Amino acid sequence: MKKIGILTSGGDAPGMNAHIRAVVRAALAKGLEVVGIIGGFSGMIEGDFIKLARKETANIIGRGGTILKTSRSKEFMMAGGRAAAAERVKEAGIDGLIACGGNGTFHGAHALWLEHHIPIVGTPGTIDNDLYGTHYTIGYDTAINTASEAIDRIRDTADSHGRVFIVEVMGRHAGFIAMDVGIACGAEYVAIPETVTNLDILYQRILKQGKTRRTIIIVGEGDEYGGAAKIASMMKEQYDIDAKYTILGHIQRGGSPTVRDRVLASHLGVAAVEALINGKTDIMVGRQDHDIAYTPLEETWTRQKPIWGYMMELAEILA
Ligand code: F6P
Repeated sequence: MKKIGILTSGGDAPGMNAHIRAVVRAALAKGLEVVGIIGGFSGMIEGDFIKLARKETANIIGRGGTILKTSRSKEFMMAGGRAAAAERVKEAGIDGLIACGGNGTFHGAHALWLEHHIPIVGTPGTIDNDLYGTHYTIGYDTAINTASEAIDRIRDTADSHGRVFIVEVMGRHAGFIAMDVGIACGAEYVAIPETVTNLDILYQRILKQGKTRRTIIIVGEGDEYGGAAKIASMMKEQYDIDAKYTILGHIQRGGSPTVRDRVLASHLGVAAVEALINGKTDIMVGRQDHDIAYTPLEETWTRQKPIWGYMMELAEILA
């Protein structure tokens, strides 16, 4: 292995820059050349490549977003798009790839390996934390801290007015963000896709607040009721409750990464380079406790990472 490529793909996540920096530095230390692929798999199809050296990765460890840009490439989902991308990679003399992203990225990476035999290692970069094989994903810690800070602010105004607030956080199919921030912000109810949302219980929790009525309800966007707006309108229709709702949205994806995300991103960057050098492919390099864990890419989405059961109990006890 002489030359490797790195790309960031799918939704960006804070810590991706720290990850790119770690990959570049670890690879240079092993005598490898590094190529940055601009714009995820779309850039791979177009052959939009740049050489990465130490100076390109200086002063980026604390920056949000990704200096390599990202995309959700529809073309790459087709065999023709992947064939074009493989061609560009081979022309550039790239011997192996590191793809940082989530579920969609890993589907693409797995297909590229099966169809074109280009060694590829995935690294978990998504705020959703929904990948099997790693306790945490790059960006998750920053996202929950950003969301918690925003919810604390909402609590101030909710408390002053004695209002019911329903706050929607990200997490397309998983309630990790909702559960952690729900506990961290002292929410009265947490609605997530992994559990059945019960509006009667939610109503009882509002009543339990007594005269102040100040209630914070956290909803993961993937909840079966369809988000904060829907729950607010059902609370009005079924219980005559006036609830304000806020969708935190993409604010959760930006900002300077936390220390935990920077360290995780750096650790996984070095481990991913070593994995490629050691001939590993079609796997995700994740971290379980303090140890590096290798998981076949396919398992990262076919096996479900459960929310720790006690978290749900905890949210109930503390509500
Ligand atoms: O996968 C990360 C994520 O932020 C999800 O939580 C969310 O559902 C999705 O991406 C939003 O994607 P986009 O920015 O493409 O609308």
